[in-house]
Amino acid sequence: MARENIVVGLDIGTSKIAAIIGDMSLGDPEQIEIIGVGIANSHGLRKGVVVDIEKTASSIREAIESAELMAGVEIGSVFAGIAGGHIQGMTMSGVVAVAGPEHEITEADVKRAISAAQALAIPVEREVIHAIPQGFVVDQQDGIREPIGMCGVRLEAYVHIVTGAVASAQNLVRSVYMAGLSVQDIVLEPLASSEAVLTPDEREFGVVLVDIGGGTTDIAIYKDGALMHTAVVSYGGSTVTNDIAMVLKMPPPDAEVLKCRSGCTLVDIVDTHEMISIPSLGENRRPRVLPRQVLAKVI
Ligand SMILES: Nc1ncnc2c1ncn2[C@@H]1O[C@H](COP(=O)(O)OP(=O)(O)OP(=O)(O)O)[C@@H](O)[C@H]1O
Ligand SMILES: [Mg+2]
Repeated sequence: MARENIVVGLDIGTSKIAAIIGDMSLGDPEQIEIIGVGIANSHGLRKGVVVDIEKTASSIREAIESAELMAGVEIGSVFAGIAGGHIQGMTMSGVVAVAGPEHEITEADVKRAISAAQALAIPVEREVIHAIPQGFVVDQQDGIREPIGMCGVRLEAYVHIVTGAVASAQNLVRSVYMAGLSVQDIVLEPLASSEAVLTPDEREFGVVLVDIGGGTTDIAIYKDGALMHTAVVSYGGSTVTNDIAMVLKMPPPDAEVLKCRSGCTLVDIVDTHEMISIPSLGENRRPRVLPRQVLAKVI
């Protein structure tokens, strides 16, 4: 299969690394056939950020190899997801005068307006990951989605700009390189999730996408078909696991199993008489028995 027809997504998460291989040879760019998936436990990240390049690279290799095996193709480059507490999303506006003599807005005017919105002072340690137009104002008329071809003298673009720490992005890219692959582009994780799970109607009506991962919680908000807000919060399922381990005094791996097996977020729906058995710290200690409501309270 020709390499140019292959597209690969790599989700570098705190708990797991997932690789997905798509075949685009169906002819329609909207239709991608998934031909390989590989998942590996992730070891080199903390709260969505690479803290150990070598360990991350070896987890990436493992995920990619199993996806390659399933697809029967060899991978050269990937689109890599990025998240972490360093990510910031903000909406800025940029204004330009429409250039043409007939005052007809062209693609070049739109590009200039979008880059004017990015002209904000971005500190050297940060870089723009995405600049996604929300809507345009032509003269006094707002709420315009497609200004090209319209007439006006003043074009204003509202743009959602996602920035991230240069160092965190570089460490992510280096991990992928170390795994023997190149990075075609980096994509904000909640935007990739939005592409996968949201319908155009949901984005039109208004929707909040929340992806609770192991180390981060990723958020994307859409309204009127446009991306209104993105955020990455440095708390996820492992925060809950660590709280259980600390409060109930048990090893984190046991707390993880307990959470997934008996956890509940609503204390009131747990039967007051229901009991659970939990392991104790230290060898030769007998398991303890507790009301399941205690676990729900911790969660
Ligand atoms: N049945 C379950 N009940 C509760 N939590 C669960 C369950 N199954 C998985 N989890 C939690 O989901 C988290 C892992 O989610 P996910 O695989 O999406 O994370 P990730 O993408 O690797 O991390 P991140 O996106 O934060 O970097 C873990 O904290 C795990 O405990
Ligand atoms: Mg994730």
